[in-house]
Amino acid sequence: MTTGLWIILDHVVALLSIAAWFAAGVTLALRRTRLALTGLVAAVLVTLVRVGTVAMLAGQGWWFVQEKVLLGLPMLGAAGAVAVLLAGPQLLAVRRGRAAGVSARGVVSVFTAGYAALAGLVVTFLAGYPLTLSAALITISLVGASALLTARVVTTPVENSADAGIAQVPEDRRAISRRRFLGWTGGAVVVTAAGSGTGLSFLTTESVTRGGGPGRSPRAAVSVADLRGPGSPAPGGTVRRQVLTAKKATVRLPSGREIDAWTYNGAVPGPAITATQGDLIEVRLHNADIDDGVTLHWHGYDVPCGEDGAPGVTQLAVRPGADFVYRFRADQVGTYWYHTHYASHVGVHKGLYGTLVVQPRAGQRADEPATAEQVDLTLPVHTFDGTVVIAGRDGRTEHPAPPGAPVRLRVINTDSDPHRIVLAGTPFRVAAVDGRDLNQPGEVRDVGLHLPAGGRYDLVFLMPDTSVALVVDDDRDGGVRLRPRGDARGEARVEETSDLPELDLLRYGVPAAVPFDSRNADRHFTMVLDRGVAMTDGKPAYAQTVNGRGHPSIPDQLVAEGDIVRFTVVNRSLETHPWHLHGHPVLILSRNGTPSTGSPLWVDTFDVRPGETWEVAFHATNPGIWMNHCHNLPHAHQGMMLRLQYDGVTTPFGGSHGGSPSHGH
Ligand code: C2O
Ligand code: CU
Repeated sequence: MTTGLWIILDHVVALLSIAAWFAAGVTLALRRTRLALTGLVAAVLVTLVRVGTVAMLAGQGWWFVQEKVLLGLPMLGAAGAVAVLLAGPQLLAVRRGRAAGVSARGVVSVFTAGYAALAGLVVTFLAGYPLTLSAALITISLVGASALLTARVVTTPVENSADAGIAQVPEDRRAISRRRFLGWTGGAVVVTAAGSGTGLSFLTTESVTRGGGPGRSPRAAVSVADLRGPGSPAPGGTVRRQVLTAKKATVRLPSGREIDAWTYNGAVPGPAITATQGDLIEVRLHNADIDDGVTLHWHGYDVPCGEDGAPGVTQLAVRPGADFVYRFRADQVGTYWYHTHYASHVGVHKGLYGTLVVQPRAGQRADEPATAEQVDLTLPVHTFDGTVVIAGRDGRTEHPAPPGAPVRLRVINTDSDPHRIVLAGTPFRVAAVDGRDLNQPGEVRDVGLHLPAGGRYDLVFLMPDTSVALVVDDDRDGGVRLRPRGDARGEARVEETSDLPELDLLRYGVPAAVPFDSRNADRHFTMVLDRGVAMTDGKPAYAQTVNGRGHPSIPDQLVAEGDIVRFTVVNRSLETHPWHLHGHPVLILSRNGTPSTGSPLWVDTFDVRPGETWEVAFHATNPGIWMNHCHNLPHAHQGMMLRLQYDGVTTPFGGSHGGSPSHGH
């Protein structure tokens, strides 16, 4: 069973235990002793099962259970034990006819166990990992307050005590004053705990937003504004100049439907930017009428930081009427894409993206001789109003391909959710992932490929003399067709694709040397991804969180140039998080503790599915301040975003004028 399923099972058992404790409490208050006894036994049993599910989860990692082990279960265990000790013997006595009813204290204790069970689940959903002292204090005080309130309700004398459901034991004056004293002390403890908990949470928020991490050595500062690209291409290269104008436009989809889009140069996707290795790419971005502002971010391309297009960090957002010139050398070969990084959860979705493909210099890719016959298609996948479109700027979804021709399909996921890709009708190789070539990728067929948001796969094969279909999300009528004779004559129909097994890229290809030893990392950061109540953009929200916080309150990750940096990324939530670091490819080390055994896998986006734990590493060789975020762009907007900062690098673009990378204003 996967960790994701254990997480769900644990939630279900937690819900059942809440239901059982409250059922026991209510039946007890109603003097339905037989039912109450059953309820109490059930509550105890479910609570024990819960210990089991939490123990199973703990085996997958402390991150999954910390708040349950430190707070939820002990709280429930204590309250449950008190309830059993108080109410249990009394219930049995009633059953045997030796007592008239259960004392108020017994009823209150069972309800309190219910509050404790409920509070544990609420903490898991609202606070998550890591558990803070303030969250614990607030929770305990809320459970205490609920218990006191219940005690008030239950012990309030009722006209006809025989109908009140609870035996009214006559109290002497001393007992009454003792009860009063306990009530007041209890109340005082609750108020103090809640107060100090709230105070603590404000204090910690304060110190983080004020920033200034520990251990920063003073160092000659360099501004990201000065980390710009070179002025000339490599020897033999040319300058590729282009103007991209961001503007609103009505766009016709391949289906014929028209949509209101935000575009670069009036169409979606934007112009295909192509270059040969060593060229200088120079793009002037002009904003015609996108009121919010735009930028260009070169997704997966390790440009100098000042060219990265992160508003509020590496530049100011480009407002209507304004321009920004990006310049960088096309040193990396492969398939990439570009998109706006300003309010990107809106802008990219509406169409502000395009493709970037860099070809090797002639003769550098030995296995693929450049022939006139070669078919090389760049296929961004994008969802408009629920319709998946997989086509370049020409909108074509059918392409001629002469039999025997080498074909390269560059599939790019420009959406915020993963896509399932199947290539039907031919064996093929996954030659490159996220633009980087794999080592000796083997031939596969009849497999499904899981393509994370933002990710790219280059699929290569020799064109057979029958047609080939690229199927997305198992929609066999959509996708892209390659046809040997250019038309649909004698076309084979595409078999069902949804039952094909998923190719595991961590076991694909052949291992090779990597340029650093990730076992001796200089820095190690753990990012636990979850949902919870957190401040994002100055407001409390039910946010997408990293270590319990939302952007911009997540502490920066500080590194120094030359460091080997290791990330542990843990997904405690029930959603997939495509993790994306700017400016550096990361090497996949392991998933759920199982090391990667195939070709070295260098990616810029990796999907951390529910319950998964990934270890990745990278070499910090590109100084700057880099966004590090979930590439489900709505998630990033809801807080799942932080910055990786090199020692000594500063930005003049922070504060109110830049606008944060994902937010509107
Ligand atoms: Cu493709 Cu920060 O983004
Ligand atoms: Cu996410």
